[in-house]
Amino acid sequence: MSGNSLDRKSQAWSALFSEPMSLLVQRYTASVEFDRRLAAADIQGSLAHATMLAAQGIIGAQDLAEIERGMATIGAEIEAGQFVWKLELEDVHLNIEARLTQLVGDAGKRLHTGRSRNDQVATDVRLWLRGEIDALQALLAGMQRALVELAAQHTDTVMPGFTHLQVAQPVSFAHHLLAYVEMFARDAERLADARRRVNRLPLGAAALAGTSYPLDRDAVAQALGFDGLCENSLDAVSDRDFAIEFMAFAAITMVHVSRLAEELVLWMSQNFGFIDLADRYCTGSSIMPQKRNPDVAELARGKTGRVVGHLMALITLMKGQPLAYNKDNQEDKEPLFDSVDTLAATLRIMAEMVSGIIVKPAAMRAAALRGYATATDLADYLTQRGLPFRDAHEVVAHAVKLGLQRGLDLAELPLAELRALHPLIGDDAASALTLEGSLNARQVRGGTAPAQVAAQIARHRARLG
Ligand code: ARG
Repeated sequence: MSGNSLDRKSQAWSALFSEPMSLLVQRYTASVEFDRRLAAADIQGSLAHATMLAAQGIIGAQDLAEIERGMATIGAEIEAGQFVWKLELEDVHLNIEARLTQLVGDAGKRLHTGRSRNDQVATDVRLWLRGEIDALQALLAGMQRALVELAAQHTDTVMPGFTHLQVAQPVSFAHHLLAYVEMFARDAERLADARRRVNRLPLGAAALAGTSYPLDRDAVAQALGFDGLCENSLDAVSDRDFAIEFMAFAAITMVHVSRLAEELVLWMSQNFGFIDLADRYCTGSSIMPQKRNPDVAELARGKTGRVVGHLMALITLMKGQPLAYNKDNQEDKEPLFDSVDTLAATLRIMAEMVSGIIVKPAAMRAAALRGYATATDLADYLTQRGLPFRDAHEVVAHAVKLGLQRGLDLAELPLAELRALHPLIGDDAASALTLEGSLNARQVRGGTAPAQVAAQIARHRARLG
C-alpha cells in the first residue's frame, strides 16, 4: 500500500481496478464519520432481509442463524463503543457487512443477495427517520401542553394585541399563547402526514431495476413495520421527497418557535416588561453586571436559520439529479441529522422555559391602556346604535385625537366630551371602553372572550390527552 492510496483488497469491488483509490478520494467520498448513526437501522434492515431470504429458500437456515449471531455481536460492539469503524470501508453499510463476514464467514457474504446499498441506504434512512418522527411528535405535544397549561392560568389576563407592533386591541395572554398551540398542532399534523410517506419500504429495488431473486417484499415491510412498499424500483432508490418533506416540516416548526422566541425576548425587555424568564434559562454579561439575557430564546431564533438552510440544501441537492441513484444523495444525511437534533433540542428546552415563564399582568394591563386599544369597541358601540361603521370609525378617530391632545385614554375622557363628538354616545359607553368589556364582547368562535378561550383550552386538553 503506497502512502497516498488504499489497498483495494479491503474494498468490496476490488477485482476491476488496476490501481488503489487515492486517499483524497477516499476521504472525500467516505460517509462513515456521519452515517454510522444509522447502524441500528442498518442492522434491523439486514436482519429482516436475511430472515426473508431464508424463508424464501435463497439462503440456508444455518446462514440466517450465523447472520443473526454476527449481528448480535456487532450490535453489542457498537453499543459498547468497541466497534472499529474504518474509513476505507466507506460507509456504515460496508463497515457492518465486512465485520459480519469477519465474524461468521460465508454467511456474511450471502447477506447482500438481492440487495444493493442503494435500496439499503434508503431503507435505513426511512427506518431511522420514522423513529425520530415519533420522538418529535412527543416533544411537539409537550410544547403544546406547556403553552396550554400556562394559558389556562391567564384567560383573564389582559394584554395588548398588536398589529405592526403597535397596540391594536386587547386580547388575553391565554389567547395569544393559544395562537402558538394552533401552529404547533398544524406542525404535528404535517409531521404525521409526512410519516405516511416516510414509512414505505425501498428494499427489493436493489440497485435500480429490481432483482431476479424471488424476494418477498411484503414480508420485509411487515417485519420492519412499514405501511407499504415503494412501488417503482427506480423511484425507490432515488426518492428523497420523504426527507425533503420532513425538513420542510422542521423548517416551518422552527419558524414558529422562532416567532415565539422573538416575542419572549421582546416581552422580557425593559420596554415591555410583560414577563420574566426564570434565572435558570438566562445568562449574564461579562461586562454589564445588571444584565440577564434571554440567550435560549435568541439561540432558538438563531438556529432556525440553519434548519431552513438544511431544507434549501436538500431540495437543491435533488434538482439536477437524473434517475436513479446518484452519490449526491449521500449528502442528504448531515442536514437531515442536524435538523432532527436541532429541532428536538429546541422543542425540549423551549417547552421547559415556557412552563417557567413569570407573567406580569400589571405591566400587560398598563400597556393595553396606553394605546387606545378599545377604539374599535367604541366604533362597534356606535354601529350597534345605528351609525354606519365607516362613520363610527371617523367619530372615534376624533375621540382618539382628543385623547392624544389631553394625554388621556378613551376610558378616561369625561363622558360629556365624548358625547359632544356624537349624541349616540350614552352613559353605558364607558363599560364598552374597559379592557374587560372589549374582551368579553369578542364572543365569536375563535375570539378572545374568556369563555371562548376556555373552550379552546378544553379542546386542546382533550386532544393532547
Ligand atoms: N453511502 C451511500 C449513501 O449514503 C450508500 C449508497 C452508495 N451506493 C453507491 N452505489 N455508491 O448514499
